[in-house]
Amino acid sequence: MEFKYQSGFGNEFASEDSRCPGALPEGQNNPQKCAYGLYAEQLSGDAFTAPRTNNQRSWLYRIRPSVLHEPFVKFERGNITHNWDEVEPNPNQLRWQPFDIPKKGAVSVDFVEGLATVCGAGDPKSRSGISIYIYACNSSMGDRCLYSSDGDFLIVPQEGELLITTEFGKMKVSPNEICVIQRGMRFNIGVEGETRGYVLEVFNDHFQLPNLGPIGANGLANPRDFLTPVAWYEDRDVKHYQVINKYHGYLFQARQNHSPFDVVAWHGNYAPYKYDLKNFMVINAVAFDHADPSIFTVLTCPSAKPGVAIADFVIFPPRWSVQEHSFRPPYYHRNCMSEFMGLIHGKYEAKEGGFNPGGASLHSLMTPHGPDEDCFEKASNADLKPEYIAGGTMAFMFESSFSMAVTKWGNETKVDKDYYLCWQPLQKHFDPNWKAPGSGKDKEQKTYSF
Ligand SMILES: [Fe+2]
Repeated sequence: MEFKYQSGFGNEFASEDSRCPGALPEGQNNPQKCAYGLYAEQLSGDAFTAPRTNNQRSWLYRIRPSVLHEPFVKFERGNITHNWDEVEPNPNQLRWQPFDIPKKGAVSVDFVEGLATVCGAGDPKSRSGISIYIYACNSSMGDRCLYSSDGDFLIVPQEGELLITTEFGKMKVSPNEICVIQRGMRFNIGVEGETRGYVLEVFNDHFQLPNLGPIGANGLANPRDFLTPVAWYEDRDVKHYQVINKYHGYLFQARQNHSPFDVVAWHGNYAPYKYDLKNFMVINAVAFDHADPSIFTVLTCPSAKPGVAIADFVIFPPRWSVQEHSFRPPYYHRNCMSEFMGLIHGKYEAKEGGFNPGGASLHSLMTPHGPDEDCFEKASNADLKPEYIAGGTMAFMFESSFSMAVTKWGNETKVDKDYYLCWQPLQKHFDPNWKAPGSGKDKEQKTYSF
């Protein structure tokens, strides 16, 4: 299978399958008759009247319009839910052991069947909120596609690569890469073997690159490293192609007699993309103290309140740690945001045991957290040489201004009931007779001798 991409974030792309040159109309969007007998169809990502700076839409030129399907009927939604009142609220620090992947041969589970809601908040009906899922599957989707009317999917593969066919073309997304498939876009996921990962769905708006402020014009995730597929189509009649729609947190299916991936050409700025996390340009403190984790933001979905995110996608990539006279691991804190973390591979610096690839943690609003006892003692007494940290590791965080609820499934599946124990050995070091080591002058010289 061949994968070709166009580079850039939020570009006005234009792409046509090389088998049909001239399929894109010139100088207009909606000719009386399209080339090759195609249908023209617009997919709107924003209100028609949204400001030009964030108005997203694409024009698709396809063999049949997407309206050509039978009525939607209910489809078993498994562990997908937006009912945030299934169980009583739980303010505790939560950690999950790696979620189980169904064994190939025992049972066949595809991406749709393997989606389970862990936590979330809000409501797609009012287009306000988020939902976080785990997917664990072992089979390709076959003649079945999914689209969400509720929000945009940010998919973080943890095990197994995803071969994703969309109406805009094909993407291969491997662990340590991510992809975004926006509201309304139909996609099919093929897998080879046991596959697992995380999904963040945002109901409000689309992801964008964070502002860089004093960082300048370059840094963090650079726009050119985002890749959008080129147009690809199949003209394939299928007896019962199954189109699954996630709508108001429920799943519905409709049958049609053809593949939905029949878009011969498209243009516009509303299109799926992928990004390789190894391209993230890391910026951090190089003298002392600790930058807030927002310095690692890859993508943000902003709320209407300046600087406050519906959700940020943040990573903790391999990097040099060089701060002098500083406690280098993440500081202890209580946050006015919810923090859901996952681990793609390696060992997270603040907790070397217990937080494992394919697992997760949730620290809810104002729930205290920070390094475990072992990490605190080591980091408090470490020789502060420049150190390469998080090598071979990629942890990430979905950070949200919503106060998220955990679902029944999330409360009952792979929960590590002993998580709190990692902090219990923390010792009292307070000494009211403590004296500063050396004179103030000596300290000054020691501290700032480069
Ligand atoms: Fe935190």
